[in-house]
Amino acid sequence: MTQAEATTIFEEDILNGLKARNKFLSSKYFYDARGDELFQQIMHLDEYYLTRKELEIFNTHKDAILHAIDDGEAFRIIELGAGDGLKTTVLLKYFLEKGVEFTYTPVDISGNVLEILEQNLQAEMPGLRIESYVGDYFDALAEISESPEKDIVFFLGSTIGNFSQGEAEGFLTKLQNFLKPGDLLFMGVDLKKDPAIILNAYNDSQGVTREFNINLLDRINAELGADFDREEFQHYPYYNPHTGECRSYLISTSEQDVVVGGENIHFRAWEAIFMEISKKYDEVQLAELADKSGFSSIDAFHDTERWFADLLWVKK
Ligand SMILES: C[S@@+](CC[C@H](N)C(=O)[O-])C[C@H]1O[C@@H](n2cnc3c(N)ncnc32)[C@H](O)[C@@H]1O
Repeated sequence: MTQAEATTIFEEDILNGLKARNKFLSSKYFYDARGDELFQQIMHLDEYYLTRKELEIFNTHKDAILHAIDDGEAFRIIELGAGDGLKTTVLLKYFLEKGVEFTYTPVDISGNVLEILEQNLQAEMPGLRIESYVGDYFDALAEISESPEKDIVFFLGSTIGNFSQGEAEGFLTKLQNFLKPGDLLFMGVDLKKDPAIILNAYNDSQGVTREFNINLLDRINAELGADFDREEFQHYPYYNPHTGECRSYLISTSEQDVVVGGENIHFRAWEAIFMEISKKYDEVQLAELADKSGFSSIDAFHDTERWFADLLWVKK
């Protein structure tokens, strides 16, 4: 896709969301260069326990994870939404040390973050076979050639939580259609816990999560010539312990008009833009998700507090 085509799609998606009755913006657009930088800061925040917990799981269980996925044959790891690969590196390094034969194929919509990832990996693991793809998950999967080797899809960091349960079922069903029987899915999910801990992760005391959300307005200003005033919007996350959904909104604190792509967008005072969902699962919901999307569970790895889980599922 050319840059011009990407900008046209970006503009259509943004206007579609801002003209909807309940305004929304897609969280996949958070990740421009500044968004990547802010997400990396979020991952280092004390309140954002998710990275710390998943890292603990990898450090503690890397040998058990390797045994669960390795049957002695070469395999390919396809990582969806790889980001900067901070946590994945722990596993990749261990697999290489153990002499396991595999290829690593990271996919991300942000070309910027993939460049950072490739530089880090080449510096740390010169022996690693890496073939990366920039693009939306399924556009990339359609491009990635079929392999006779077993594919193991990594989908880490609770990125599946950026979908509602129904959307996650649709996403995993579609993913499953790209896989061969016996291929694996290794997926990081955030679990239900004390709601105060969850809410703090999306409302940190330094305001980095607020900045991460507001940055999308800055991006729209820069790329689509819009005139959002970032000071006129308030970041508001809220957690529903029943569904496990933490939803983030930007709320217009005044009645105002914003021009986006040459169109006038009207905001009533206190009107909200839905920005992102970060869903937390319980065991019943996970069993239902696997069943409805065509996977069977084979293993699960937890941190000591059981706040987070990395699940190993096989395509039925
Ligand atoms: C929540 S971050 C997780 C990053 C990393 N997996 C981790 O665990 O730290 C989500 C990543 O997915 C990428 N992403 C989001 N939506 C995407 C899409 N539709 N297609 C491809 N990548 C996407 C983002 O650029 C970002 O790097």
